[in-house]
Amino acid sequence: MLLTGQIKWSALMLAMVISSLCLALPLDKDRKALIRKEEMLQIGGKLLLTKQEELANEKLMALKNAEIAQAMKTSQFPPSMHFFRAKKLIEESKVFHVLKKMPKGAALHLHDFGILSVDWLVRNVTYRPHCYLCFTPRGNLQFKFADPAPPTPKPEDCSEWILLKKYRGQLQNVTEFDNSLLKNLTLVVDNPELAYSDQAIIWARFENIFITVAGLVHYAPVFREYFARGLQEFYEDNVQYLELRATLFPVYELNGKTHDKEWSLKTYQEVAQKFAKDHPDFIGARIIYSYHRRKNVTYIAESVQAAMKLRVKFPETMAGFDLVGQEDKGHSLWELKEALILPTTQGFDLPYFFHAGETDWQGTSIDENVLDALILNTTRIGHGFALSRHPVAKNISLNRDIPIEVCPISNQVLQLVSDLRNHPAASLMSSGHPMVISSDDPSIFGAKGLSYDFYEVFMGIAGVKADLRILKQLTLNSIKYSSLSADKKQTTKEIWQKKWDKFVHDLAEGKKL
Ligand SMILES: *[C@@H]1O[C@H](CO)[C@@H](O)[C@H](O)[C@H]1NC(C)=O
Ligand SMILES: *[C@@H]1O[C@H](CO)[C@@H](O)[C@H](O)[C@H]1NC(C)=O
Ligand SMILES: *[C@@H]1O[C@H](CO)[C@@H](O)[C@H](O)[C@H]1NC(C)=O
Ligand SMILES: *[C@@H]1O[C@H](CO)[C@@H](O)[C@H](O)[C@H]1NC(C)=O
Ligand SMILES: *[C@@H]1O[C@H](CO)[C@@H](O)[C@H](O)[C@H]1NC(C)=O
Ligand SMILES: *[C@@H]1O[C@H](CO)[C@@H](O)[C@H](O)[C@H]1NC(C)=O
Ligand SMILES: [Zn+2]
Repeated sequence: MLLTGQIKWSALMLAMVISSLCLALPLDKDRKALIRKEEMLQIGGKLLLTKQEELANEKLMALKNAEIAQAMKTSQFPPSMHFFRAKKLIEESKVFHVLKKMPKGAALHLHDFGILSVDWLVRNVTYRPHCYLCFTPRGNLQFKFADPAPPTPKPEDCSEWILLKKYRGQLQNVTEFDNSLLKNLTLVVDNPELAYSDQAIIWARFENIFITVAGLVHYAPVFREYFARGLQEFYEDNVQYLELRATLFPVYELNGKTHDKEWSLKTYQEVAQKFAKDHPDFIGARIIYSYHRRKNVTYIAESVQAAMKLRVKFPETMAGFDLVGQEDKGHSLWELKEALILPTTQGFDLPYFFHAGETDWQGTSIDENVLDALILNTTRIGHGFALSRHPVAKNISLNRDIPIEVCPISNQVLQLVSDLRNHPAASLMSSGHPMVISSDDPSIFGAKGLSYDFYEVFMGIAGVKADLRILKQLTLNSIKYSSLSADKKQTTKEIWQKKWDKFVHDLAEGKKL
C-alpha cells in the first residue's frame, strides 16, 4: 500500500517535471537571446565574417577546442601557468603557430631595450673589441665599450673595469659564462615563485636588467643595430608597425663622446625609415619619449619641455610622452600635475600615453592614476590593469574611446595576476571595451614579438568561445588606436588587409601553417 503510494507520488513528480520541460521552450528562446546578446557585446562580436573567414574560423576553433579539451584532461593549461613554464607548451601549440602567421597590425606598448631576443647581445655584441665589464657587490654586471681604455668615469658601486676578451681568456668554460650573461639579461628562471618572492624583488631585478643592458645598447653602433634587429624580429612575427617608449639616454662613442636626445631620436627615425624602405610591407615606428616617474616634479617638468621641443623637431617620429618605472614606487600622476599640465597651459599639443593602474593596490593614489591619466587627456592607457575597478573611469575610457594597452605576459611575470584567465581585461573584453594587445618587454620575459601575448589572450583571457572575430578586431584596433595620421592608418590597413586575406585563405584551405 505504502509502496504504491510512493510510486504514484513519483509518477506525479515525473509528470510535473516533464510538463515544466515543455513550458521551457520560451525560456530556451530567452536564453539563446541572452547568449547572443553577450556574444555581440564582446570585442569583435559584431563583425561579420566573409565565407572564407568562416571557413578559416572553423579550422581555428577546431584546433582551439582540441587544445582546451586536452588541457582539461591533463590540467596543463598554458594561460593558467607561469609563462616561464608555459612557454614550451605554447611553442608546441597549433593555435600558437596560426597566431604567429596572423598579421597583427601594430605593437603599441613596447620599451626601447626589451624588443630583441638577448642572444645577439651576448654572442655578438659582447664579443666585439674594446668591451669591458664590471661586477657590482650584489652580483650584477655592467658593460662599457671604450678606446682608449679604461672607460671613464669609473662606475659607481662596481669593480674595476675588466676587458671582457681578457676575462674570457682566463675562464675554464666560456660557454658556461656566456649562459650566465644570457641569464643576466632576462628574468627567466626555473622557479620564478622561489626566485622572486614579491613584486619589489622582481621589479628591482627588472630595473637592474635595464642597467646591465644599458652599457651595451647605448654604444652608438650597437644602438642602431639593436633597433634595426628589433624591428626585424617584430616584422618576422607579422607585425606591421610599432610604437616604442624610449628614454633617449645619452648614446656614447668608443672615445667617450656622447650624443643627446635629438641624436637618438634622429637615429631611431633613420633606422625605421630605412627598414620601411627595405620592407615595403612594414610601415615603420614612432617614439614615445619616456621619463622615470620616480624623478621629482622639477625634472619631470624639464622632460616635458624637452618632449615639446622634440615634437616640433621630429613631428613624423615623435608621438608623445609617458612616464615609466614601477608605478607603486613612483610619483602618482596627480603629484606631477604641475609638470604635466605645462603643454596645455602653453597651448601645445603633446599627446600622452600614460602607464596607469599597473597595480594591485586598489584605493591608493597609484591606483587612481587611471583617473588622473584620463583627466590629463591621455591618448591611450598603458596597461590600465586597475581600470575595471573604476566604473566612472571605465565609462570615460569607453565613451571617449581611449583604449587600454593590455600586456598579459608582463602582468603575469611582474606578479599582478597569476592565472591569466583571471586577468581583469577579461571582463573588459567581454563588454567590448577599447583595447589593444602588446608585449611590453618581450625579450626580458623570454618571449618574442607579439604572438605569445596573443596566445594568452586568445586561449585564456578572452574565454573558450572567443574566435577569429576577436583576433580580427584586436588587430584592427591596433591600427585604429595607433598615433599614425589618418593617411598612414589607411596605408597600414591596406597592407594589413592583403596579409589578412592571405592568412585567412591559407588557414581556410588548410595550408600547412
Ligand atoms: C657581429 O655581427 C656582425 C654582422 O651584423 C658581423 O659583421 C660581426 O663580425 C659580428 N661580430 C662578432 C664579434 O661576432
Ligand atoms: C661547459 O659548460 C657547458 C654548459 O654548462 C657544458 O655543457 C659543457 O660540457 C662545459 N664544457 C666543459 C669543457 O666543461
Ligand atoms: C650574471 O653573470 C655573472 C657572471 O657570470 C654571474 O655570476 C651571475 O650569477 C649572473 N646573474 C644571474 C642573475 O644569472
Ligand atoms: C628636485 O631635485 C633636484 C636635485 O636634487 C633639486 O635641485 C630640486 O629642487 C628638486 N625639486 C623639487 C620640487 O623638490
Ligand atoms: C583636456 O581636454 C579638454 C577638452 O579638450 C580640455 O578642456 C582640458 O583643458 C584638457 N586638460 C588637460 C589637462 O590638458
Ligand atoms: C556611463 O555612461 C553612460 C552614458 O554613456 C551613463 O548613462 C552611465 O550612467 C554612466 N555610468 C557611470 C557609472 O558613470
Ligand atoms: Zn610598459
